Amino acid sequence: MSSFKSLEPFVLFVTNDLELEKKISPAFEKYGAYFSTQNTEVASQIIDIKRVDVLLIDESLYQDRTIASKYRKHIFDLYTKTVEKNPKAVTLVFFEKKLSNFINEFSRKSEVLIKLDRNNIDKNKVNYILQTFSRQKFKSLVLNDFKAGKKFSAPLFIYNDDKNGYELFLNADEEFTRGKMDLLIQKGHNRIFVKNEDLVKIFDSSNMYFSEEMHQTRKRYKFFLSYFLDHSADEKTYIGNQLSDLGKDIIKRLRKLISRFDNPAEALCKLPYVRWTEISHGLNCAIYIIIWGDYLGLKNTDDLAFAAFVHDHGKFEIDFKPGTHGKFFSNLTDNIDYKKHPQLCLEMLKRKCIHLDRRVHDAIASHHENFDGTGFPRGISGEDLTVEAMLLSIADLFDHFKTIHAYNQHVTADKAWAELLEVHQDSLLGTKYHPRLISRLEDFFRIYQKDKVKKTA
Ligand SMILES: [Fe+2]
Ligand SMILES: [Fe+2]
Repeated sequence: MSSFKSLEPFVLFVTNDLELEKKISPAFEKYGAYFSTQNTEVASQIIDIKRVDVLLIDESLYQDRTIASKYRKHIFDLYTKTVEKNPKAVTLVFFEKKLSNFINEFSRKSEVLIKLDRNNIDKNKVNYILQTFSRQKFKSLVLNDFKAGKKFSAPLFIYNDDKNGYELFLNADEEFTRGKMDLLIQKGHNRIFVKNEDLVKIFDSSNMYFSEEMHQTRKRYKFFLSYFLDHSADEKTYIGNQLSDLGKDIIKRLRKLISRFDNPAEALCKLPYVRWTEISHGLNCAIYIIIWGDYLGLKNTDDLAFAAFVHDHGKFEIDFKPGTHGKFFSNLTDNIDYKKHPQLCLEMLKRKCIHLDRRVHDAIASHHENFDGTGFPRGISGEDLTVEAMLLSIADLFDHFKTIHAYNQHVTADKAWAELLEVHQDSLLGTKYHPRLISRLEDFFRIYQKDKVKKTA
């Protein structure tokens, strides 16, 4: 079987600040090709011959008044050319002062544009952003959209965890037999992948409701994040309002998708994205929260789902090594800085003028606290922890088990839940979560199991 790496982007950094270049260039080591230049002419020639996936622009050049106007034009040309050739290119601007209209014009033309404060930047922040926004060569499709016995006009792939790449599953025009479909389901695959350029062919040849909706939702969430992580969009009430509205729209879309399944537990199994990315983690957690929040009858479920979108993005503010999610127990929880991310998220919400329900606000602060007091950052315990905080924490861990693949394989929701229960019971001083909440959620899985048995009988 042939397999493909998911990311091989080309990064172009236009800067004359060697120190900054030295500081952040290690972020690109594992991102394939990287080139830096202070000469905008050279940069322009590179864009002519190469498709740029990540363009980094250092505003310090622009601050030099002697070259400012010329540079400004050059930068704009570089940017436009890059986006023309690759509309999904990620662009990061390291800014010193706000670039006002100039940069807003950029934003309108780009799918993703992030502005970072150049005085407060390091390789890990850049890494975090690239991880979050990098363009993928493959699009994921929800298996529910596929009917056994059909043929598709483009090849389909599955994701292989061991190889960290995509593997050919079905050739174009080969029949997607019942046996092949069952094999995927048995192995816990709820998604299948198609090359970006083939997406239209697949959409054209079948009814792709779930996949199409999921694409739109992910796209919106990406847009939401590009503003949420953008420092130059701080302290502007209208942006806060836009973000709140966008968040509500994403939740509405997720609800619509969930309601299309026979029951919410089926949606919980089939909707989450199968790989760990910053984008999928936020969306996956929101899916679990909507399903479980409604099941438990919470009044603030939508606010809590909004919290799920942002709960971990305080990590963006700290200098820690991202991409170590598989080892999150030992490595990350020992890291003092990592422990600040819940609080940093609250500060980001405040700067973005976003107001959430008070209990939801506390839930973000406490999404790493444990019922037995062994969590962080405050070590609070027992009834001091709200159901919202516990639920966000459960969704968080459940997604780790569902998408990290503890055994290097795709796991079903049942298996992920069993893993979570083990951690729950093995907590140092008691249990990780409130036993009453766990038993309510166990009922949720039992109801689903009954349903499944009924269906197969
Ligand atoms: Fe977290
Ligand atoms: Fe998380």
